[in-house]
Amino acid sequence: MTAHLTDALLERGWVVDTTLFSREDVAALRVACEAEWRDGKFHEAATGRAEGQRRRAEIRSDSVLWLDEARPSPALSRYFAILDEIRVAVNRQLFLGLHDLEAHFAVFPEGTFYKKHLDRFRDDDARTLTAVLYLNEAWQPENGGQMRLYLDEDCTDYRDIEPEAGTLALFLSGRFWHEVLPARCPRLSVTGWFRRRNESLPW
Ligand code: OGA
Ligand code: MN
Repeated sequence: MTAHLTDALLERGWVVDTTLFSREDVAALRVACEAEWRDGKFHEAATGRAEGQRRRAEIRSDSVLWLDEARPSPALSRYFAILDEIRVAVNRQLFLGLHDLEAHFAVFPEGTFYKKHLDRFRDDDARTLTAVLYLNEAWQPENGGQMRLYLDEDCTDYRDIEPEAGTLALFLSGRFWHEVLPARCPRLSVTGWFRRRNESLPW
């Protein structure tokens, strides 16, 4: 079930899947995300890590809600179960040593974006594989909000990925620059990062 993913990741470091999450899985995640939004649980996203964290609306203007794997709703248990299947398959074939997942819901309200970046912090390289699952039924190209994934280091070649419900994009966090083009309609997703154990010791 995951061989097509691991083969592509091994060969080129990124892949887009539309088979792992069913329509029902995605619809349930969408309902959960909307309910949290209505309850005011989201906060405006920041960039950087720990003390270096700051809101930089000129870089990213989405809002996020971090997910708690310890107390998942049924929709999120399903999400975590599928992501764990991916983690095990990737470890088996790519030896990445993926250890855990951090994930958040993200909402890009109309007019928001996330400028070109890498998903790795300067002082922490634990984030190894990025997984973005989109929750938007019948997304139209004119709605914008595509993820532009740059395929080479000088960012000359890229692929635009539509944030359509059920599309899951996976790519190596430290290797691929990417951005979210301005969304013209609210755009919902679940973003996860598989982390490997941090090798640095406190002494
Ligand atoms: C991120 C990110 C891409 C997307 O949250 O780091 O790049 O398509 N998201 O939502
Ligand atoms: Mn990113």
